Amino acid sequence: QQTALAAGSIGKDGYRHYMEKELHEHPLVIGQTLQRMVDPASRRVILPDLPFNLAEVPRAVITACGSAFFAGMIGRYWLEEIARLPVDIDVASEMRYRNPPLTEGSVGLLISQSGETADTLAALRSLRQKAIHIVSVLNVEHSTMARESDVVLGTVAGPEISVASTKAFTAQLTVLACFAIATARARGKLDVLAEEHLVSALLDLPSRAAEVFNQTDAIRAMAQVVVEARDVLYLGRGSMFPVAMEGALKLKEISYIHAEAYAAGEMKHGPISLIDRTVPIVATAPSNALFEKTLSNLQEAKARGGRLLVFTDTKGAERVSAIAEQMVVLPHVHDFVAPILQTIPVQMLAYEVAVMKGTDVDQPRNLAKSVTVE
Ligand code: G6P
Repeated sequence: QQTALAAGSIGKDGYRHYMEKELHEHPLVIGQTLQRMVDPASRRVILPDLPFNLAEVPRAVITACGSAFFAGMIGRYWLEEIARLPVDIDVASEMRYRNPPLTEGSVGLLISQSGETADTLAALRSLRQKAIHIVSVLNVEHSTMARESDVVLGTVAGPEISVASTKAFTAQLTVLACFAIATARARGKLDVLAEEHLVSALLDLPSRAAEVFNQTDAIRAMAQVVVEARDVLYLGRGSMFPVAMEGALKLKEISYIHAEAYAAGEMKHGPISLIDRTVPIVATAPSNALFEKTLSNLQEAKARGGRLLVFTDTKGAERVSAIAEQMVVLPHVHDFVAPILQTIPVQMLAYEVAVMKGTDVDQPRNLAKSVTVE
């Protein structure tokens, strides 16, 4: 496989679609984004100057649309887990019309590749009016949202041409992980050694992400099953739940196969009634603290005839191989960064299915790269 030399070069560089090229840029954009946010010598996160004191922020409000919203959901896990900061989150089209009781001086995290999405921009303006500090995570740093934000944290992903977002998503996650680390430090929840540990896990990611492409054949084998399906159920727990949501969204967007993501523990409250051999189950299950719980959910699905297609890691592979029809084994990484790595193969799966179906991968019907109307 080729490696894209610079994120942002124009043209497909020999790839079949922009989406394929942009998928292959994941390692590079994670690395470029980290270069901007981390001091490699001290292994500490560096944020631009903030016009407020991060240590005094009482809450965070996260809002975005589409894939960027799922990045925000993972950001919520990180801010809660390591910074112990309470977080409110909603999609921007809801947030803009809700009237949540917000605490002045909270931080609003607005996430957008384009910086032009109408709902996200409207949510930004309504948060601003409520005296919320606006920190936007943007790929286009000269966008309307950039101009109206207190601080812009740039995702260094280069231009993203494919309508379905790929590399911008992992770059957003990289920024949010760094922001969570900086917030945790400011709030006295993370000592120097713990920060070094998390930053090292982040710095290790570009190499681990490059290894994901060794699994392309296994992902194509999964795609052979998914392409025959009319409906697909995606499952994950904890920070893997938004990864499942991203996988289901991507599949819907570009292959036109109906996919639904569920928190694995919630499956028994509804979607379990759908399970049979015609509804494949795609699960994201690295060997983290919720691994055993996820496996037992998957066993319940298998007992009802479900075909299990599972993304796991080297530590989880033996257990998963006992129940899964197919699996994709990724390098084992620190739990904190695992959602970033696990996102790559679920996006690749959607891509391979769409290619098999022969859809217009880069320009799926009815979708726009940037939705500037409400
Ligand atoms: C559109 C795109 C999605 C994207 C969403 C949010 O729906 O098709 O890929 O995630 O907009 O876009 P933004 O530019 O705000 O990240």
